[in-house]
Amino acid sequence: MIRGIIFDLDGVITDTAKFHYAAWKSLASELGIEIDEKFNEKLKGISRIESLEKILDYGGIREKYSDDEINSLAQKKNEEYKKLLKSLDRKDILPGISEFIDELRENNIKIGLASVSKNAPIILEKLGLMEKIDFIADPSKVEKGKPAPDIFIEAARGIGIEIEEVIGIEDSDAGVKAMKNCKMKSIGIGVEADISLSCTSELSLDLIKKFNK
Ligand code: BG6
Ligand code: MG
Repeated sequence: MIRGIIFDLDGVITDTAKFHYAAWKSLASELGIEIDEKFNEKLKGISRIESLEKILDYGGIREKYSDDEINSLAQKKNEEYKKLLKSLDRKDILPGISEFIDELRENNIKIGLASVSKNAPIILEKLGLMEKIDFIADPSKVEKGKPAPDIFIEAARGIGIEIEEVIGIEDSDAGVKAMKNCKMKSIGIGVEADISLSCTSELSLDLIKKFNK
C-alpha cells in the first residue's frame, strides 16, 4: 500500500533545471569549456560542487584549481543561478504538479522532498508549496549525494513511512539510481524508471494505485 510520495525538486516540481544549465554554461564558458545539453544530463541530480568538478574534469583542467577556488567558482555559479530564480513564482510549477499534490493530500498520502539543492526551501517558498510538503530532507545532513540512496532514505524517515510504501519521482538518472539503490519504487519523468512518463501532467492518484496491485 503506497502511503508516501517523495519528490525530487529541480525538473520534477519546477523547471529550474534550465536555470542550472544556463548558469553552469556561462561559468564553464568563462573557464574556456563548452558544455551542451547532452553533457548537462550528467549534472542533473548532482550536488553543486560535484557538478563543477565534472565540468572541470570534462575540460581537462580540474587539477588547476584548489579546493578554495572550486568553492568560490561554485558560489559564483550559485549567485548567477539565484539571479535567474528571481522571477520564479507559482506559474513555474510544472504541469499537473499542484493538482497532484492536492490529490495526494486529500488522500492522506504523505509528501516528502529529496532534493540535493541547498536552494530548495527558497524555491518552495517562491512556488507557494512550502506548507504542502510534510518533510524536506536536508542535503547537508546526508553523507552521500545521488546516486547514493541517502537522501531518499532520509526523506522516507522524515515522513515516517517505510521505503516499501513509498514512491519517488525523479527526472535524473542519478536520482533513479539512488531509488534503485534502496529498492524504492520509482517514477521517471523523461528518464527510465519503474514507470516512465514523458510529462508531469501524467501524474495522478490512479497511476499511484497501479503500484498497489
Ligand atoms: C539538483 C539539481 O536538484 O540540485 C542539480 O538537479 C544541482 O543540477 C543540485 O546541481 C544542487 O543545487 P544547488 O541549488 O544546491 O546548487
Ligand atoms: Mg531533478
